Amino acid sequence: MLTKLLKINKADSDAARIAGSIIASGGLVAIPTETVYGLGANALDTKAVDKIFIAKGRPQDNPLIVHIADPGQLSLLCARVPQDALALASRFWPGPLTIILEKSALIPENVCAGLETVAVRVPAHFAAREIIEAAGCPVAAPSANLSGRPSPTTAAHVLDDLDGRIDAVVDGGPCEVGLESTVITLALGERRILRPGGVTSEQIESVIGKVTMDASVFSPHEGVAASPGMKYRHYAPGCRLVLVDGQHAAGYILSRIKDFSSPGVLCFDEDLPLFEGVRAVSIGRRLDLASQATGLFSALRRLDAEGHDIIFACCPPSGGLGDALKNRLLRAAAFETVFLND
Ligand code: TXA
Ligand code: MG
Repeated sequence: MLTKLLKINKADSDAARIAGSIIASGGLVAIPTETVYGLGANALDTKAVDKIFIAKGRPQDNPLIVHIADPGQLSLLCARVPQDALALASRFWPGPLTIILEKSALIPENVCAGLETVAVRVPAHFAAREIIEAAGCPVAAPSANLSGRPSPTTAAHVLDDLDGRIDAVVDGGPCEVGLESTVITLALGERRILRPGGVTSEQIESVIGKVTMDASVFSPHEGVAASPGMKYRHYAPGCRLVLVDGQHAAGYILSRIKDFSSPGVLCFDEDLPLFEGVRAVSIGRRLDLASQATGLFSALRRLDAEGHDIIFACCPPSGGLGDALKNRLLRAAAFETVFLND
């Protein structure tokens, strides 16, 4: 199929109208959100939702996030909406927070991969909201990458993975946050973060009090995964990636890369002088987590396209957005990590 490229801006709503009508008639459109690009389909149309799994090569047991433009629609999608959900929604929506609740009968089984819960988010990007409104239905949308690849933060990334496999992509420019939403489950009285993301755990705790971090966020999952997406190697370049955690990560990497014929390095601005003559890509200053979030996935894609035999990555500091960055890098590395005691 021919994938249409639709440009969108605030002054012109043509693209939103076209994208909305493709979604309403059962097609697939990649849409910009503030986190990453999503691959949208009518969440109430089982056949359209099936097409998402096929286009991405996504395992059937990995549920999708349902996107709405109006927080008031939450009560249609969920069997009950606890007070904590209302509090988080009113503080962080529209924005990079996904809330999991018990699902209502309206949600088709394949959206939730057979679970009794549904994940819901109101995106902040004007284009995402205009498209959802134009479609006139809730929009199921996973990240618009081939399964396992880094999430797309530009329309060009989407086309690299999905050109010819989807009806259209709406180009709304680079994503502002650059990492996916935080996923929290509030189902069955729980308050557990399944995936750290654009809203930090500290911000969430300031609204609803103590929350827990699922064990699979920083360790390989064992047994049944609370969030099925967390059990796969993900965000991953084609070659081996080793994550190096510690103050002196760059120095350690410099000593290791001699053993490889075509190493790539993911580091911080401050490290670049050390890597003269080495293919090193910076994702921003060491303490500027927001810019690292914006740059991580495109840096991984760039290094991947260059065909290295190994990539070494410096680990961002913990806490705040650093938790989300580390979670993505651990998965890209399939948990191969070197911890330096420095
Ligand atoms: O920022 C985002 O969240 C982006 C944009 C497009 O909104 N979407 C996104 O979707 O990252 P996806 O499918 O790539 O990641 C959704 C994650 C997966 O790990 C999935 O397993 C989990 O959310 N998830 C979805 N529904 C769930 C449910 N009912 N229970 C547990 N985990 C769920
Ligand atoms: Mg994804």
